[in-house]
Amino acid sequence: MIITLSALILVRANPHSKKQENPKLDIQIRPFQLTDLDRIYYIEERSFPHPWTAMDFMNIHERDPNGFLVAVRNGEVLGYIVAEIITSLGFRDFRSKRRGHLLNLAVHPEFRCKGIGTVLAKAIVAYLKEKRSEDVWLEVRRSNSIARSFYSKLGFLEKGRKLRYYFNEDAIIMTKEL
Ligand SMILES: CC(C)(COP(=O)(O)OP(=O)(O)OC[C@H]1O[C@@H](n2cnc3c(N)ncnc32)[C@H](O)[C@@H]1OP(=O)(O)O)[C@@H](O)C(=O)NCCC(=O)NCCS
Repeated sequence: MIITLSALILVRANPHSKKQENPKLDIQIRPFQLTDLDRIYYIEERSFPHPWTAMDFMNIHERDPNGFLVAVRNGEVLGYIVAEIITSLGFRDFRSKRRGHLLNLAVHPEFRCKGIGTVLAKAIVAYLKEKRSEDVWLEVRRSNSIARSFYSKLGFLEKGRKLRYYFNEDAIIMTKEL
């Protein structure tokens, strides 16, 4: 699956400053390839206090190669998103239900606030829909107000909390119907 996106978007160095019109952003969304791993690890280390290991990325890729997408411009990976599909049986109706679980998303710090995260999230939601997932959920650190507002803008709703999910911090659960 290759999606080429050419979008006229808005960019800002400081998200609270006035937006400026920006040149075109040409990015390609494609599945992860093994040669992307070093670059992804570089971005991961700069994005999270407890980064995934290279093995975490490899394992998830093995489970579902199409659920791991990267945003690329001129051959350079600028961000990535990872999701899995969980099938569960309903307690009441015994109906099997498919749900998307967003596991990881990060954009290179120098390329944030340019719309890349939005493009990645929309691409993974399209994939989860295509696979007949009924909804998608994720956990986000309570203190990660940027990510919480990012997901809210995409229509995710805060539905609950997992106490000490990150050992030292609670997670907020956010969901979106598909
Ligand atoms: C969260 C993240 C992926 C967003 O990616 P991004 O490419 O910068 O996001 P976008 O440019 O598509 O922003 C879309 C919307 O999110 C919100 N947003 C993004 N960055 C923001 C910021 N710094 N401050 C406030 N709101 C912000 C805004 O509502 C924005 O819409 P707007 O541009 O119309 O104001 C990125 O900040 C990141 O990699 N963070 C570190 C890793 C992380 O926290 N991942 C999520 C873990 S659950």
